[in-house]
Amino acid sequence: MSILVTGGCGYIGSHMTWNLHDAGKDVVIIDNLSTGFSWLVPDGVPVIEGDIGDADLVAKVMRDHKVEAVIHFAGSIVVPDSVKDPLGYYFNNTVKSRSLIENAVKAGVKAFIFSSTAAVYGNPAETDKPLTEELSLEPISPYGTSKLMTELMLRDSAVAYGLKYAALRYFNVAGADPAGRTGQSTPTATHLIKVANQVALGQRDALAIFGNDYPTPDGTCIRDYIHVSDLVAAHALALDALLNGHEPFVANCGYGKGYSVLEVVEAVRRVSDVNFEAAIVPRRDGDPATLVADSSRLRSITGWLPQHDDLDLIVRTALDWERTLIEKGHNRA
Ligand code: UD1
Repeated sequence: MSILVTGGCGYIGSHMTWNLHDAGKDVVIIDNLSTGFSWLVPDGVPVIEGDIGDADLVAKVMRDHKVEAVIHFAGSIVVPDSVKDPLGYYFNNTVKSRSLIENAVKAGVKAFIFSSTAAVYGNPAETDKPLTEELSLEPISPYGTSKLMTELMLRDSAVAYGLKYAALRYFNVAGADPAGRTGQSTPTATHLIKVANQVALGQRDALAIFGNDYPTPDGTCIRDYIHVSDLVAAHALALDALLNGHEPFVANCGYGKGYSVLEVVEAVRRVSDVNFEAAIVPRRDGDPATLVADSSRLRSITGWLPQHDDLDLIVRTALDWERTLIEKGHNRA
């Protein structure tokens, strides 16, 4: 029996793979290696290079490896790119997920964990308190819509075919494995903390702050940054909950605390000890002003207790990983 991790060579997927490997579970990865790297995962974990939309390949992997659960990360994640290329995002995130879900239903997998996003909430009207799962779902980017459509396919597949699933809505995932075994490794990644660390280490020329005219205390966007190790721990717990008979569920993943872009920049300057420049530029497409998670549902269903809820620790682990990339020569596009 094994667990199929799609996108297991990517940023979050590779942390998930290490988490499962550390727990002694059998893992098989399908990854098209478009943004992932097989050297990020433990030796001995099978990496099948291919596409999750290739139904024959997925069926064979599920058969050959006796897959009993799927953790689905493969997909495109850059909000502004989705605004420029919506059909590409609907194809990669929605259409291919439909095919994967069909494979999972046909193979009778016992649990399916889906990588969803806070972007399904769009620009919530009330941001004075953390967001709960009951809020209306009104994504403002094709990325958010592409993920929401997958959530809806899972919801309906649970009713029609009895598929057990958990859709985890991530807020801003950041940081890297504290043991230094993997981290965000796409040189052209757009994540704020990654980009700021690259600027601090001289790997990128400058940091642009996208807008300081948002309705927030310092005018820059507020996000809930969750350490990737805490996030993958939530997946492992969600999987256990489903395998122990819990009903399908949707849950937010975040710490319930927000930091503005300027606060993050300050944290990176503090941790790196480099006083790099950050220029204010116009807003970027598709950015909501504030996104902070209420994760009480996740905590009550799974007993999740974060271990890395500390912005400086998040920045430090990410910065250490950037240094590792430089040492390995993987720092340039
Ligand atoms: C991230 C996720 C997205 C998720 C969302 C949930 C990525 C690539 N995207 O999107 O999947 O749905 O969290 O909250 O991880 N910023 C700058 N300068 C930069 C980069 C970013 O000012 O160079 C700002 C952005 O405008 C935004 C904030 O920093 O306000 C965070 O941006 P980013 O790290 O790209 O993540 P999100 O777009 O929030």
